[in-house]
Amino acid sequence: MADKTFFITTPIYYVNGKPHVGHAYTTIAADTAARWQRLKRGSAFLLTGTDEHGQKVLQKANERGMTPTAHVDDMVVHWHALRDTLRIEYDRFIRTTDADHIATVQATLQDLHDKGELYEATYTGWYSPAAERFWTEKDLVDGKCPDTGMPVEKVEETNWFFKMGSYQQRLIDHIQANPAYIRPESRRNEVLGFLDKPLGDLCISRPKSRMGWGIEIPFARDYVTYVWFDALLNYVTASGWRPGTTDESWKKLWPADFHLVGKDILTTHAVYWSTMLMACGLPLPGAIYAHGWWLSADGDKMSKSKGNVIDVDLLVRSFGVDAVRFYLLREIAFGADGKFSYEGYLNRYNADLANDLGNLSHRALSMTCNWLGGVVPAVEESTGNEEPILALAADVVTRFDAAMDALQFQDATGAVFDLVRAGNKYIDTTAPWALNKAGDVAKLRTVLRTTLEITYLSAALLSCVMPDKMGELIGKLGRTPALADDDVRAWLAAPPTLRSLPESTPLTLGDPLFPRFREMPAEIAALFTAPQESPVETKPEAPVAAPVAAPAPAPAPKKEIAEAPAEIQYEDFAKVKLRVGKIVSAEKHPKANRLLVLQVDIGEEKPRQILAGIAEKYTAEQVLGRTIIVVANLAPRKMMGMESQGMLLAASLDDALSLVTADIGPGASVK
Ligand code: MSP
Repeated sequence: MADKTFFITTPIYYVNGKPHVGHAYTTIAADTAARWQRLKRGSAFLLTGTDEHGQKVLQKANERGMTPTAHVDDMVVHWHALRDTLRIEYDRFIRTTDADHIATVQATLQDLHDKGELYEATYTGWYSPAAERFWTEKDLVDGKCPDTGMPVEKVEETNWFFKMGSYQQRLIDHIQANPAYIRPESRRNEVLGFLDKPLGDLCISRPKSRMGWGIEIPFARDYVTYVWFDALLNYVTASGWRPGTTDESWKKLWPADFHLVGKDILTTHAVYWSTMLMACGLPLPGAIYAHGWWLSADGDKMSKSKGNVIDVDLLVRSFGVDAVRFYLLREIAFGADGKFSYEGYLNRYNADLANDLGNLSHRALSMTCNWLGGVVPAVEESTGNEEPILALAADVVTRFDAAMDALQFQDATGAVFDLVRAGNKYIDTTAPWALNKAGDVAKLRTVLRTTLEITYLSAALLSCVMPDKMGELIGKLGRTPALADDDVRAWLAAPPTLRSLPESTPLTLGDPLFPRFREMPAEIAALFTAPQESPVETKPEAPVAAPVAAPAPAPAPKKEIAEAPAEIQYEDFAKVKLRVGKIVSAEKHPKANRLLVLQVDIGEEKPRQILAGIAEKYTAEQVLGRTIIVVANLAPRKMMGMESQGMLLAASLDDALSLVTADIGPGASVK
């Protein structure tokens, strides 16, 4: 069908608990991909939903003293809510208890039965209620279920089977002929390895006498169908397909472009689902993409019983939805496992969002508001630094697009952050504060316009990841998200020229987009309430050779600083690594009046964050761009939850304070 819609799916989730970070992950990934394709193609269809039948759901309902229907109706509310909490723009939320789904499943069962794809047989095996499947004697580990470690029961049952094994060679051929069918590559090899062994048939029925919560098999009314047989069909139910239908509109959606699944449910998709589709005479999806797992900080699987499950609502309440979406996609490669720690989360937030992106946008807007009347300036005289950044912007658009098409969210966001960091560097190199001081308005206009455009381009690309905050930023730059989408389409057609913002459009400075977190938000900190005997701030500071470090902020108890000895040996002094550093960003600490939070370029890959107790003598604007001396090998120290990675030198006499400065580039060593 010529106008096929891009169709992407998430797994349908069991309604036994509330969504956690693992579920949020797949859904956010699928939503981000769908938003990008919607922007590019004009439409996309995102399918998500809930898996509501089967033993586990029935068990949970029993535990709660509810009927299964009342239980699933009650639980589904938490899953519907993801639309708002995580800004998921899904096109259909399917429930396996929906009438059209039940009809599709029953029609499919009947059709496969009529075509001779199903047969009845008596089977004796070890049944694991926890895993909801049969095992052979040799599969068992210490007589227990190899998947769950739970007890198994010997069961002899007559059941219905799907002739899955007869599709083994066709499936192998398909996977081999379509290298992109199962992604990433390592997972594809895993599936091919699994298919090296003979593929058995699939038991697709459960006698109602044992487990009645499911879709009734139309030709065997004493049975319901196996929960996976039911669940997998949701993907085609949503397209509108049904066996024998004469309405061809389902072809607009099916085959799906991507099924996103966790690595634990790859076999059910790659093997069960692919062969089911073959038996139904339906085309296979474009790709099945298995992502990795979010593990606890210690590398454990998240589970309620271990109490290490990360609550998405809490993360969103504490850091905002955009930061959560960004973190999950930026932190790990899609396909790999990742460990979730709140510390790691906070650091990524501060480094990428509060610092890199927050600074770029705030600097661009504040300097234009302060010095150029708060409207988009015209490009006038070149500073000689514009060409490389223009070339980078074009490259970033291409890289972003290719990575998003391949669901490489880490690479896509990484490309934009290359530009964001280059934008900050461009500001440092062109030093607009100096141009302003010198009255060089022609160059100042060029620099600030270029910076605003870089900010805009970054925001427009990132808006599929962070729709709210990037929409806000686009608004501050005098555009709307819809216009930004038009601009992105134009950049995909022809490289950007960094002339998208109409001249003279008023800008809005407003508050910083991503306020920096000095310490863990209270609700998260409260999770770790074990009283701290000696908070980090009270540790005595190491004796240092230089006069001014960042002192402990106000509420910390007074520290004892050791007196410097009258004489030291040269070796003592040689231990101190002094470097010239350039202050590339400065802001006041919101809580401690005496502290400035500085980002200092000392010639390393990333600027160092240094907390300096100079705010009573210097404003952030006064120190921005200054070239100072930094103690570069001072052990990092946490103050008010924020790390200071070094110390700057300042001279003090009575009440006077003066930064020790140097007239040489960042990174120079001081001897
Ligand atoms: N109902 C089945 C899927 C049927 S699809 C036709 C199911 N549901 S689930 O709720 O248990 O899991 C849904 C998805 O969440 C799976 O893809 C699973 O991998 C994912 N995750 C659950 N915990 C996870 C993490 N900790 N990390 C990442 N994803 C994980 O399976």
